[in-house]
Amino acid sequence: MSNETPPLFDLTDRVVCITGGGGFLGRDFVRAFIDAGARVAVIDHNVALAEAAIVDAHGTEKNTLAIEADVTDPKAVEDFTQQLLQKWGGKIDVLVNSAAIDPKFDADVARQQCHTFEDQPLELWKQSLDVNLTGTFLCCQTVGKTMVESAAGTIINIASTYGVVAPDQRLYQRDEETEQTLFKPAAYPVTKAGVLHLTRYLAAYWANTGVRVNSLTPHGVFDSQDEQFLRRFAERSPLGRMARPEEITGPLLFLASDAASYVNGANLVVDGGWTAW
Ligand SMILES: NC(=O)c1ccc[n+]([C@@H]2O[C@H](COP(=O)([O-])OP(=O)(O)OC[C@H]3O[C@@H](n4cnc5c(N)ncnc54)[C@H](O)[C@@H]3O)[C@@H](O)[C@H]2O)c1
Repeated sequence: MSNETPPLFDLTDRVVCITGGGGFLGRDFVRAFIDAGARVAVIDHNVALAEAAIVDAHGTEKNTLAIEADVTDPKAVEDFTQQLLQKWGGKIDVLVNSAAIDPKFDADVARQQCHTFEDQPLELWKQSLDVNLTGTFLCCQTVGKTMVESAAGTIINIASTYGVVAPDQRLYQRDEETEQTLFKPAAYPVTKAGVLHLTRYLAAYWANTGVRVNSLTPHGVFDSQDEQFLRRFAERSPLGRMARPEEITGPLLFLASDAASYVNGANLVVDGGWTAW
């Protein structure tokens, strides 16, 4: 092999667009790409979160851009795509679709959203379809089109183990009889399963265009969950624990890099073996 072959994992100066980049995991995605030398646009409907992600990651004006946009709005998606093309030389190398409605159990909001299936709010179902599926569809369509035009690019859709297997609701039960029992709502697993299949559809559709499309499937990532939850999680996990954020970002960088040049239409499952038994 020639000495001029670029390093397989090199992401220097790649133009990366991360939706939902102000989120809990999204922030780590932003940091990982900045540390890898990429130029990173952080898209979030909460622009303060996008800006904070950039500050946390020591991004500069030259190598980062925070953009307020709702991924369910076609015009907003078109606008941020054009903004990126103008700022960084007319191409987008990597799109990470991370924006999602993912009800968290430690937040007060869970008390309103994580009801029994029979009582799950229709509004949450519709909103989840909108953000998790339609938002991913729109960003793939709009950014993907520019990748097809430049005959290069890679898209990584962030899914979830709950798109592969059903949630084990025993994780979310409460011991105290007085406390409300919580359930992971149906909308989240259903939309994540849709994301996995949209990935396969596009990987096959854009075959031979130079554009690769893959999914990355994380499972639970440690975020100071309560002891009862951590114990129950550990009992069910082959590795006996939740993931650390950097255990998700490594596989993400791999999928974005040339090291994954023959990986297309795949789902890289990073779950400590949760779906293996
Ligand atoms: N955190 C985990 O343990 C975990 C596990 C498995 C999968 N995932 C998946 O990983 C991805 C990132 O997770 P996270 O923990 O960062 O989620 P998060 O809920 O912390 O962040 C989601 C981000 O998306 C943004 N967002 C929501 N709706 C939007 C819209 N309409 N337009 C633009 N931005 C919008 C939010 O403002 C937020 O910053 C998600 O797709 C999630 O489903 C997370």
